[in-house]
Amino acid sequence: MSETLPSPLPPRRRKLPGSALGLTLAALLTLGLAAGAWYLFHGGRSSDPAPGRRDLPEDPRLVYAGPFRNITRDVKYVGSASCAVTGCHDSKVASYSRHPMGRSLFAVAEVDPVPPEDRAHNNPFNALDSQFRVERDGDTVRHRRAAFDEGGRPVYDVSLDAAYAIGSGTHGHSYLAIREGGDVFQTPISWYAQKHTWDLSPGFREAPSKEWLTAGRPVKPDCLFCHANRAEPQGGTVNRYREPVFDGLAIGCERCHGPGEKHVAARRNKEPVEGGADYTIVHPGRLDPPLREAVCEQCHLAGEVRVLRRGRGVYDFRPGLPLEEFLTVFVRASEGGRDNKAVNHVEQMHVSRCFRDSAGDNKLGCVSCHDPHVHVVEPAERVRHYRDSCLACHQEHGCRLPREERLKTTPEDSCIDCHMPRHSLGNVPHTAATDHRIVRFRHGEGPRREPLPAGPGLPVTPFHQPPGVGLGPEAERDLAIALLGPLSETGKVAPLSYSARALRLLEPAVSRDPEDWEAQEAKANAFWAQGRRGEALAVLQTVLARAPRREAALTRAGTLARDLNQRPSAIDYWRRAVEVNPWVAGYRAFLCELLAGEGAWEELRPHCEAWLRLDPASIDARQTWVKYLLRTGRKGEARSEFERVRALRPPNLSRLQAWFDEESK
Ligand code: HEC
Ligand code: HEC
Ligand code: HEC
Ligand code: HEC
Ligand code: HEC
Ligand code: HEC
Repeated sequence: MSETLPSPLPPRRRKLPGSALGLTLAALLTLGLAAGAWYLFHGGRSSDPAPGRRDLPEDPRLVYAGPFRNITRDVKYVGSASCAVTGCHDSKVASYSRHPMGRSLFAVAEVDPVPPEDRAHNNPFNALDSQFRVERDGDTVRHRRAAFDEGGRPVYDVSLDAAYAIGSGTHGHSYLAIREGGDVFQTPISWYAQKHTWDLSPGFREAPSKEWLTAGRPVKPDCLFCHANRAEPQGGTVNRYREPVFDGLAIGCERCHGPGEKHVAARRNKEPVEGGADYTIVHPGRLDPPLREAVCEQCHLAGEVRVLRRGRGVYDFRPGLPLEEFLTVFVRASEGGRDNKAVNHVEQMHVSRCFRDSAGDNKLGCVSCHDPHVHVVEPAERVRHYRDSCLACHQEHGCRLPREERLKTTPEDSCIDCHMPRHSLGNVPHTAATDHRIVRFRHGEGPRREPLPAGPGLPVTPFHQPPGVGLGPEAERDLAIALLGPLSETGKVAPLSYSARALRLLEPAVSRDPEDWEAQEAKANAFWAQGRRGEALAVLQTVLARAPRREAALTRAGTLARDLNQRPSAIDYWRRAVEVNPWVAGYRAFLCELLAGEGAWEELRPHCEAWLRLDPASIDARQTWVKYLLRTGRKGEARSEFERVRALRPPNLSRLQAWFDEESK
């Protein structure tokens, strides 16, 4: 193939800067796999059994010494239905089912009310030179994408079956499709409740990987951990879950109360409750404030990156235990107190004086103002509800502004109107819309708040780390993983500047525990960031020798081996990646590129077909297919395939045409 011709290889290779990391990260981003905190949930524990692992930190569930009896590992989950037994918690069950958390995930047939699916609501709609359409057929809901030629005939028409709707509907719904084997993908179409319209899913228009628009976006465990009751990831994969994928759909009672087995049995057997308190199940209100807060922090403290601690599984946390023994949540190091409001509820509450100056059992917490079972929506009820919450502490030391002054601004004397205003950022998910810093003056009305002191020269700091205390070896490992994993991949830190530091932290971590795959993979990334690709690949080889199906290691090793021109082993890694996850078009792209380079047309054929099925909008896939047809002597078919390329009107059509003319001579 001559230099001047467009090649059917994935173009990312040529477009990108020569820097090793630019190539890697961009390539992985193109696959849509890197952004986000997937490291978090690649716990080795569940499917890469590591019998030889020494020295794992003790499981906090086993050493728990408090009063609650449902914390040890053997107590089973029984499902929210067991709490809904008539006569037990009727009012809680009924009110919780109306709370957004009690409605966080639905089977698509049960979405109520069904958003209108007509033209008046932008269905179908056009985007990115194609048409998107929601289509209902009985209980099946299809999200289609099609493109048409000038005569109005479809060039392609693909669909995903939307099986579940995610989101209570406050802001809208996104949809999940489940592929054979239990791989979960988010569809490209979402319903926006406030605008009352269908449109591309958030972030898809500028998607790092175009294949999201046809094949969907891989849904990683962190998403489901916060938005669903329970979905057990298959260790070592990016988005595959043990089937049936969901154990309970919406967030259930046991996510905040812990497993219910003992409690249900005790109440069925009418065991006496001693001392007036039932310790067979966690009552978060009876926990010390930091443990009580941990229950909500599970999901409301998103932070910048969350790293699963060594040896812990995604769902190991139990209410009643410290969250930081399961997860290290890294938050931005210095911006907490600024007027920059793009932080979550937990971090904001922590900078309030109400939080900092309250203590003991009266310490401010989420439940000081929110009953998690009750959604306060009526305007009059809302003002009264929150005023009562304030007055629980501010009865004596109340507002300095005289009441008659206050009533001029808010006739209902709504404390939150002045002290917890909503800000203009409005509806960005994962960002507080209501100011949880409980400000003295509304924005712009008083003196500026002092920013919090800057962190120790790093972009992130562990949220639960007491100030002035060193990190310790385990947290240092987590920090190194954060710096070289998700943070670098989202472009938030310059990996080179941290790679040396991270390597220093990772060396002792992996010599203590060579089967700590997350640390090993971070170490490979650190080498890679320094341009030491051979060493990076060697580290991944040791991982894959023991955990041969780790998807992230396979895709990294495949990219590195290709860059190092070790083509046979690159092919082998990509073959295995495709086997582990047959639903990612980008993996097929890499494999086809390598196979085409070797002239291995027969092996290429089924992979290129699968690539086209997954992502028929891909010009690269079609170009590869044209090339295959030409190389196997099927000129006529190649010509009709090239007509389809033309019908898709790619921006570089004239170059493609020249390439085709040359190749088909
Ligand atoms: C999002 C977390 C969360 C979920 C989900 C949740 N609870 Fe609670 N629950 C709490 C907290 C926190 C408290 C303590 C509240 C307090 O002390 O102010 C509590 C207290 C309780 C109590 C005892 C106190 C009381 O008010 O009677 C019962 C009973 C209870 N919850 C039942 C349920 C049931 C049944 C469900 C499922 C339908 C459920 N909870 C779902 C967090 C939750
Ligand atoms: C398992 C994850 C999880 C846990 C644990 C959790 N939340 Fe939530 N919470 C969510 C999600 C997800 C939403 C958004 C649901 C939606 O709208 O689809 C939410 C929404 C909320 C809302 C907003 C309701 C509204 O008006 O839209 C409040 C308030 C809230 N949670 C309070 C709490 C409190 C208090 C706790 C601890 C007692 C808690 N949550 C624990 C996941 C969680
Ligand atoms: C758990 C107890 C508690 C709750 C609930 C609480 N506060 Fe406070 N708040 C405090 C304490 C303690 C202080 C610091 C001492 C003081 O001013 O009384 C404080 C301080 C304040 C301040 C002064 C802030 C500053 O920066 O100088 C305001 C304003 C305030 N609270 C408003 C509210 C409002 C409004 C609510 C209800 C939405 C509320 N608080 C709920 C405990 C609480
Ligand atoms: C001092 C009272 C107070 C405390 C403490 C508090 N909230 Fe809120 N929260 C509010 C108010 C007021 C609203 C706005 C309600 C409304 O507009 O109807 C709100 C709204 C929310 C919302 C909906 C989105 C938004 O920003 O409007 C979520 C989610 C939420 N709170 C979570 C939490 C969590 C998690 C905690 C604990 C870290 C917490 N809140 C602590 C008073 C409080
Ligand atoms: C119209 C707006 C407004 C309303 C409504 C309002 N506040 Fe205030 N509040 C203020 C302002 C402004 C200050 C600061 C006054 C100053 O420092 O001169 C303040 C100060 C405070 C303080 C600090 C007192 C101190 O001595 O440091 C508390 C506590 C407080 N408010 C609580 C409340 C509570 C509780 C309510 C609801 C019953 C409420 N506020 C309603 C505007 C309001
Ligand atoms: C660490 C927990 C966490 C993770 C991870 C997380 N979310 Fe959320 N998400 C929440 C919470 C809590 C809320 C509600 C309160 C808020 O916005 O802070 C929410 C709100 C949302 C909303 C608005 C829901 C509504 O109806 O109001 C959408 C949409 C959403 N998340 C999508 C996603 C997607 C998609 C992912 C995965 C890529 C994801 N979230 C990852 C915790 C999380």
